[in-house]
Amino acid sequence: MADPKISIRNLYKIFGEDPQGALAHAKNGMHKAELLDEHRHVLGLRDINVDMKPGEITVIMGLSGSGKSTLIRHLNRLIDPTDGEVWVNGENIMDYSDAQLRKMRRKHMSMVFQKFALLPHRTVLENAATSMTVDGRPRSEWEPEARKWLDRVGLEGQGEQFPHQLSGGMQQRVGIARALTSNSDIMLMDEAFSALDPLIRTDMQDLLIELQRELQKTVVFITHDLDEALKLADHLVILKDGEVVQQGEPQHILMNPNDPYIVDFISDINRARVLRARTVMTETTQDPGGLSGAVEANATLEDIIARADGETGRSYRVTQEDRMIGVISMTDVVKALVPTDASEDGMRKAS
Ligand SMILES: Nc1ncnc2c1ncn2[C@@H]1O[C@H](COP(=O)(O)OP(=O)(O)OP(=O)(O)O)[C@@H](O)[C@H]1O
Ligand SMILES: [Mg+2]
Repeated sequence: MADPKISIRNLYKIFGEDPQGALAHAKNGMHKAELLDEHRHVLGLRDINVDMKPGEITVIMGLSGSGKSTLIRHLNRLIDPTDGEVWVNGENIMDYSDAQLRKMRRKHMSMVFQKFALLPHRTVLENAATSMTVDGRPRSEWEPEARKWLDRVGLEGQGEQFPHQLSGGMQQRVGIARALTSNSDIMLMDEAFSALDPLIRTDMQDLLIELQRELQKTVVFITHDLDEALKLADHLVILKDGEVVQQGEPQHILMNPNDPYIVDFISDINRARVLRARTVMTETTQDPGGLSGAVEANATLEDIIARADGETGRSYRVTQEDRMIGVISMTDVVKALVPTDASEDGMRKAS
């Protein structure tokens, strides 16, 4: 398995007069509400441990105030932790000098925000080229590069416009082009699509997935939207009150929520549209006979229901790259549509 690109270890962040003094309480297990009531300190993050693999999209999800922005700002040390470590490319960035930090921020990380943060008096082309102009590279170098990425995000011919002449969705595309022009291998995206209309937002999600497949960036994506999280995440981290409640592959979390909070969180989603054949099937390479055909491992349950045409007795072979990997029955499909309760462990922990 590949080494993590980013590894967050035992990270704590406490806001207030004496964070170090309040740290001991957090380490002893005190949660956010108590720390505020009894010690007048805000628990930003408590004992966060997350590994982010190269070439994957890690989504950090949680309600407002759960600590998402605080967490992502630690990754390039816009915020320093009260305790704990952040490793990037196998190096502990807590040990970095200012010069090393600057270099990391310039070469390895780019940020895309909800507010597009474009420079109003520069053209779209100049905005897209920011990382290269800051580096002092000549126009002959940055212009073709910035144009290439503007084209790639669907803004061909818009380079000479100014940001205020573009719609919100187009401005966000400029933000993405700017991140891509920097050629960094890590992209940090904090609520990048949250200000966009639903249809444009869906377009941007599709664009991100497409770019990701092609460029294999390591993406850290923050959202409070579960549908967006489920669509984008290879690895999903759910935060609540500064703590990780559950993390893992999204499909796994949907089938095995470990806490009533997660059960509640996922209760409203359209499971037929989100769950996939590979998640619900019984793994086998033996054909039991009597199957009604094959479905793709990544087919949604909705696809399978449509395919079955109302027949409830059918079963299908599940295939991945034309190889059989399992069997799925309509009974499996229907059962999976009913949300799972939290596992025993999770329930005990919460009570
Ligand atoms: N500079 C600060 N000083 C004091 N408290 C802070 C500071 N920054 C963040 N916090 C607190 O830390 C907690 C987490 O805030 P954060 O901004 O990370 O939340 P978030 O999950 O990004 O929320 P949102 O979805 O609203 O952006 C909140 O309780 C917030 O009040
Ligand atoms: Mg935030």
